[in-house]
Amino acid sequence: MTLTDVSLRFGGIHVLEDVSLEAEPGTVLGLVGPNGAGKTSLFNCISGHYRPSSGSIRLDDVDALAVRSSRLAEAGLARTFQHPALQLDATVLENVLLGAHSRLPGGPVSWSLRLPKTRRAEREVRQEAHDLLERFGLGWAATRRADELSHGLHKGIELCRAMLSRPTLLLLDEPAAGLSHGEVEQFIDSVRDMRKDFDVTIVVVEHHMGVIAAITDRVFVINQGRELMEGTAEEARNDPRVVEAYLGAPA
Ligand SMILES: Nc1ncnc2c1ncn2[C@@H]1O[C@H](COP(=O)(O)OP(=O)(O)OP(=O)(O)O)[C@@H](O)[C@H]1O
Ligand SMILES: [Mg+2]
Repeated sequence: MTLTDVSLRFGGIHVLEDVSLEAEPGTVLGLVGPNGAGKTSLFNCISGHYRPSSGSIRLDDVDALAVRSSRLAEAGLARTFQHPALQLDATVLENVLLGAHSRLPGGPVSWSLRLPKTRRAEREVRQEAHDLLERFGLGWAATRRADELSHGLHKGIELCRAMLSRPTLLLLDEPAAGLSHGEVEQFIDSVRDMRKDFDVTIVVVEHHMGVIAAITDRVFVINQGRELMEGTAEEARNDPRVVEAYLGAPA
């Protein structure tokens, strides 16, 4: 994924200004910065929820700004949200299966006719959804209603849903926020696991610097919509500009 000079304005407010960054294939890039720095807005630009005022965004060889946002999943993009939005009255498995939308062949017509190839594809994605839930320690919850489960588990369900689309680029917005210590450890293990077994590039927004240090190859620091620095997690942690940006930010 490559962003070149991406700017985003709402009225007179500059949310992002000339942000250029690259996530190398197969790596984990951390996107950090104080509250209001523009991290979620940057994700919203990549996923087509926001339209940048200028600049370009490429996912491999796809020009993301030239593709309808509903088609970006087919181009390999998946994301999770800072505030998970699940179908609360549906089961965990049903929530995860929503991630397969871009993978099922044909359209609604072939689904309602339940053609053999559709049934086979359905069976495959159900099995894969179960496998993902097992991998992330949620196999036991597959048939539970989402609203019976904790916030931390909702984050895990979202991750499974995102992975079911077999993304080549995965955007995670504060995946560790609100997790218990044990859940944070499990999340770190899950990311290491995913790197081993899936061909996926990950960009992760996270305030938990322990998580950033544990899972990222590089870190991009953003403050007030602009790049502050780029380097390793260790370099970011020791950079006085980064320390100052965090301390100077409103709580
Ligand atoms: N739709 C919008 N309309 C107007 N301003 C917006 C909009 N979306 C974001 N902003 C503004 O952009 C700035 C950056 O917000 P953003 O949510 O991207 O920050 P963030 O880095 O994700 O912060 P946090 O760490 O708190 O999640 C904020 O000042 C916010 O108010
Ligand atoms: Mg945010």
